[in-house]
Amino acid sequence: MDRIRVTGGRRLHGTIPISGAKNATLPLMIASLLTEETLVLDNVPRLADVGQLQRILGNHGVDVMVGGKRPGETPYDGQTLHISAARIVDTTAPYDLVSKMRASFWVIAPLVARMGQARVSMPGGCAIGTRPVDLLIMALDRLGAHIEIDGGYVIARAKNGLRGGEIKFPKVTVGGTHTAIMAASLARGTTVIENAAREPEVKDVADCLNRMGAKISGAGTSRIVIEGVSRLSGARHRVLPDRIETGTYAMAVAMAGGDVLLENARADLLQAGLDVLVAAGAEISATNAGIRVARNGAGISPVEVATAPFPGFPTDLQAQLMALMTCAKGTSHITETIFENRFMHVQELVRLGAHIRLDGECATIEGVGKLTGAPVMATDLRASVSLVIAALAAEGETMVNRVYHLDRGFERLEDKLSACGAAIERIAG
Ligand code: UD1
Repeated sequence: MDRIRVTGGRRLHGTIPISGAKNATLPLMIASLLTEETLVLDNVPRLADVGQLQRILGNHGVDVMVGGKRPGETPYDGQTLHISAARIVDTTAPYDLVSKMRASFWVIAPLVARMGQARVSMPGGCAIGTRPVDLLIMALDRLGAHIEIDGGYVIARAKNGLRGGEIKFPKVTVGGTHTAIMAASLARGTTVIENAAREPEVKDVADCLNRMGAKISGAGTSRIVIEGVSRLSGARHRVLPDRIETGTYAMAVAMAGGDVLLENARADLLQAGLDVLVAAGAEISATNAGIRVARNGAGISPVEVATAPFPGFPTDLQAQLMALMTCAKGTSHITETIFENRFMHVQELVRLGAHIRLDGECATIEGVGKLTGAPVMATDLRASVSLVIAALAAEGETMVNRVYHLDRGFERLEDKLSACGAAIERIAG
C-alpha cells in the first residue's frame, strides 16, 4: 500500500488547481441512470471513488466512455465522461460493490423511478460512524414506492411508476435530498421537499437534471419543488469546483505559511470556511482566477467552530481545521454536529504532539509551539488529509500510511503540494 512522506517546515508558494467536486460528480453520474440518452460530464476529477462508481454503474449495464485528451490539456484538467444508460440490464446493486462506497446506495432512486424496481444492498457502517439510510427510504416511500427489507437489501418497487408527494426531512440530509430529487423528477405529479439540503452540489445536480428536461425549482434553498416529467433526455454539464478540496488547501497554506492561488476555486461555495480562516489569521482574497490564500508572519489564532449543514462550516473540513488549530496561539473548540465518531484523526494528531481533549462531540485543542513528525495513519478520507496538513508544519518527517483513503477524494495531492514547494512524496508499496 502506498505511503506519503512529508518533511515539514516549508512554506507554500504558487498555484494549486482545484478539481471538479467529488460530491457533485458521484450523484451526477448516478443521475445518468434516469435517461436512455447520453449524459456528458466535464471537469470530472480523477479519483478512486469515480472509478469505483464507474464499476458499479457498469454492473447495471451503463457504458462510461472517458473522452480523449484535447490539445493543450494539462494533467490537472478534469476528464470528460460520456455516460450512457441506454439499456439497464440489472436493477440489483450488490453488497460487495455498495459496501465500498456509501453514495452508491443512491442508485436506488433512479432505478426505481425508471425501471419500477430496485434491489440495493444497505451500505453498512463506516469509519465515521453509523450512517443510516432511513430518510432515503422514507423519501421513496412518500413517492409511492413499496419498500421491503430482506437479507440486508432494500427492495423498492413501483410497478406503475412513482407519484409526486410531500417529503419533509426531520434532519438535513444531502443523500436524502439527492435521492428525493432524482426519484421525483420521473414521478407523476408534483413533489415538495421541505428542509432540503442547501449544499451547492445539490444545486449543481438539479441544474444538470433541468438541462436533461426535469422541472426542479428551489434547489439551493430548503424548499424544493419538482414537477415530474415522463422522460428525461441527455445533456452536457460541467461539474462545479470542489469546495472541500479548496478549503483543505486553504488550511494547508494557513498551516505552512506562504501565498498560494487556488485556481478555479469559488469563494461563494465556501464562505463559512473562509470566514473561519480569516479569523484564524489567514489573508483571503477572491480573484477572477480563484481564491488567494496567504499567511506571512502572523501567528495562527484560535477559533470556536461548530460544523453545520450548508451554509455552515462543513463537517468535511472539520479534521483539517483541527490540524490547523493544533498550532494556534491559544485554545480552540471544535464541535462536530453532523456525524458521531468523526474524530478518528484526534489520536493521530496527538501522536504528532498535539494537545486535544475530547468531550462527546466537542474537541478542545490547546495550541502547541510545534508538532513533531511521526508515522501516522487514518481511516477516512478527511482525517487522512488532516494528517498531511499537520505534517506540513511538523518538525522532521511524517509518514502517512493507508494513502488509498486520500486517493478516494484528492486528485494528485502530493503533486499539487510539491509544486508549491512542500517536501512531500509518494512511496509506492
Ligand atoms: C454527504 C457527503 C459527505 C458529507 C455529508 C454531510 C457525498 C457523496 N457525501 O454524505 O461528504 O460529509 O454529506 O455534509 O456527497 N442521516 C440519517 N438518515 C439518513 C441519512 C442521513 O439519519 O437516511 C444522518 C446522517 O447520519 C448524518 C446526517 O443525517 O448525521 C447528514 O448525513 P447526509 O447529509 O445524508 O450525508 P451523506 O449524504 O451520506
